[in-house]
Amino acid sequence: MSGPSSKNGQSFIENYPALLQKLIHDYKSAEDPWRVTPYWDTYNRRIIDEINASGIQNLQLNYKLLKGFASGGMPVPIPPNDPLKKFVFEGVQKLPVFSKVFGAHKHIIKVQHKTAVGLHIFRAKQVLKNIEEAFGKLEFDFDMNTGGADDVFEWNGGQITASLVPYLARAADFYSKVPMKDVTSLVEIGPGLGLSTVAHRILNPHLKRFVNVDIPATLYLSTQFLKSLGCFQVVDYIDHKSTDPVIVGQEQEDLPVCYCLPPWSFEDVKEPYDWFHNAYSFMEMEPEVVRAYAAHAESIVTKGVWVMSHEQGHKPNAGNQRETVTLDMIEKAWGDDFIRTDAEASHSLLFDTKPEEFRLYTKRSAEQALKKAV
Ligand SMILES: C[S@@+](CC[C@H](N)C(=O)[O-])C[C@H]1O[C@@H](n2cnc3c(N)ncnc32)[C@H](O)[C@@H]1O
Repeated sequence: MSGPSSKNGQSFIENYPALLQKLIHDYKSAEDPWRVTPYWDTYNRRIIDEINASGIQNLQLNYKLLKGFASGGMPVPIPPNDPLKKFVFEGVQKLPVFSKVFGAHKHIIKVQHKTAVGLHIFRAKQVLKNIEEAFGKLEFDFDMNTGGADDVFEWNGGQITASLVPYLARAADFYSKVPMKDVTSLVEIGPGLGLSTVAHRILNPHLKRFVNVDIPATLYLSTQFLKSLGCFQVVDYIDHKSTDPVIVGQEQEDLPVCYCLPPWSFEDVKEPYDWFHNAYSFMEMEPEVVRAYAAHAESIVTKGVWVMSHEQGHKPNAGNQRETVTLDMIEKAWGDDFIRTDAEASHSLLFDTKPEEFRLYTKRSAEQALKKAV
């Protein structure tokens, strides 16, 4: 567990090669359904190569590291995985004439990126005002300008990024339906960088415990990113393996605990969690993997499930996915105990979320308890 690292006044994200190595090593003995599925296999390998090549100090600025699960950094073309195609791809750019064309193209992208960042920040500020109208002033005691983020701006005396705001909007929509005090712990599968975790940390002071589960490459980035903010007690995979294999609640300390675990450790989580969340990652897995996550989650989740996903999933065979995962298929993975309830996505609509992509399911027993209490 560690707080933010600072070098020359600039917060950077710490490399932790031993953590990455352990994840890669232990992944070799992971079995289905906890192995990386086809859609994410290429990403996982490519990201690991890029981590080894560039490190993660400037994670929030490295498009090659973030592409697929977060925004940040100037867009650059991603080289093909095939070594021969990669050789040609990189070689062509160095040839006379071509180098000039590529150079001009890069310059245009740079200018456009700068403009886009300005617009993102402008929109983010409007959305933050809307959220504050509904929830009051957003207080946060940490800065998000770690890892070279270029979409940073000041809000209520702290540094926040435009990339975080869509996740704050999602969380605001969630809390417009679910009382904050009913959410003291949260499980998320496929959190990507972990911006949803940060958004909940800002909005909901009752949250004490998070479990985030992701595949090795993404998990490594997210673990180190969340540590860099200094607003969680991050329990990483090495911490998890070096103590009791069963996770024990450690929520007695000031900061909320965030367990960052790979898929094959999910079943180690035995204690109850209030809510479960998944956003746009079930639809990139295979149906049996979604069912496996839901099956274990059902045994620990006490209040409800919040899913965001494209209704029809990805187009067939996207990224070599074997079977399309629709939102209805995700719904069916949960037992009869989870009942669909009203949901709306008014804040996240501003980031192009379609209202039908946002679904809430309340656990029957929790709903009955609530009715009795009223
Ligand atoms: C499209 S991104 C979504 C990220 C984030 N939830 C969001 O809404 O921005 C998909 C995420 O699913 C993760 N993922 C892919 N396969 C997974 C698996 N088998 N188990 C857990 N996470 C997985 C990826 O690493 C990535 O973080």
